[in-house]
Amino acid sequence: MIQDNAAQDAATPGHGLAAGAPTATEVAALHAPVLRDRCVELLAPALAEPGAVAIDGTLGMGGHSEAILEACPNARVVGIDRDPRALELASARLARFGDRFTGVLTTYDAVAQVAAKHGRDGRVQAILLDLGVSSLQLDDAERGFSYAQDAELDMRMGDTGPSAADLLASASESELRRIISVYGEERFAGAIAREIVRRREVNPVRRTGELADLVRDCIPAPARRTGGNPAKRTFQALRIAVNDELRILERTLPAAIGALSVGGRIAVESYHSLEDRMVKQAFAAGATSSAPPGLPVVLPEHAPYLRLLTRGAEVADAAELARNPRSASVRLRAAELLRPAPKSSSRPAPAVSTTPRHRRK
Ligand SMILES: C[S@@+](CC[C@H](N)C(=O)[O-])C[C@H]1O[C@@H](n2cnc3c(N)ncnc32)[C@H](O)[C@@H]1O
Repeated sequence: MIQDNAAQDAATPGHGLAAGAPTATEVAALHAPVLRDRCVELLAPALAEPGAVAIDGTLGMGGHSEAILEACPNARVVGIDRDPRALELASARLARFGDRFTGVLTTYDAVAQVAAKHGRDGRVQAILLDLGVSSLQLDDAERGFSYAQDAELDMRMGDTGPSAADLLASASESELRRIISVYGEERFAGAIAREIVRRREVNPVRRTGELADLVRDCIPAPARRTGGNPAKRTFQALRIAVNDELRILERTLPAAIGALSVGGRIAVESYHSLEDRMVKQAFAAGATSSAPPGLPVVLPEHAPYLRLLTRGAEVADAAELARNPRSASVRLRAAELLRPAPKSSSRPAPAVSTTPRHRRK
């Protein structure tokens, strides 16, 4: 279901920011947008015409949206987030743009419906996805994303669905091992999954502190001395599973390409190798001719429908890294739609290998 922010405000008295809530400047300080200027540079050429619409599929604190609204005075931005708190804070920050900004509480795989409702003739001219969690979510101990602060193990970006504690209490040992191994790229996933299941027969793990201790106990001392906090990979894996991040992205990429108008642009910032591989494959499929080899004439329907705007994946430079440590793992890819995307592109992108990286030859 798509809920417009304005509609929610009308339906829920007092839904706006509470007294003493952060100012726009304070909201801006909660999350520094990664590669903000480069994202705007890539998308702005598609947003010059009056009536152009951009969808920011991961509104967060609204940093990228704000930069687009400032750089593209003819454009409107529709900001999607599954986290009501993010939507509320970003909407307050962007209120100065009036009806040039609309917030929508949903997941980004609803991009086609959002474009149909808010776009120009049902299409949009730019789409941005800045994947993963925001600093607001990570830093709020109560939300249970952080191994550094003890809290109930929640990890849900939105308000619905099972929490990380529910997942640990119900998933089989083999499913837990797969999640921790594949999404966390954790070498000791087997030992961690075994221990979670062993302990839950007596006392299920329900707090971040308990899980961080359990992971540390399962990782041999020499391996603990490298690579930062040993719980980091397991926490990342659970967050991805709890929020179904990869399956939602898999559905979203073809839907997003299909929601662009010709000349429209899409930019995606990934922070995990599995995400980046999906984006790379979806863009490469559109940028490659589908004509069988050896044909004398390439029919228009076989011609590429995307033009790649980035050479491989772009990463953060030293200045960005110094300013914003979160940019360390970013991979940015962008593309432009050359002709209407074929219907087949609305099929999910090919599934990525779920073989854990440390077992790949
Ligand atoms: C990295 S932050 C985006 C930060 C934003 N670009 C900014 O400048 O503040 C990612 C945001 O996307 C949201 N998000 C993650 N997965 C989502 C999904 N499947 N659908 C909608 N929003 C999602 C998260 O709640 C979070 O607020």
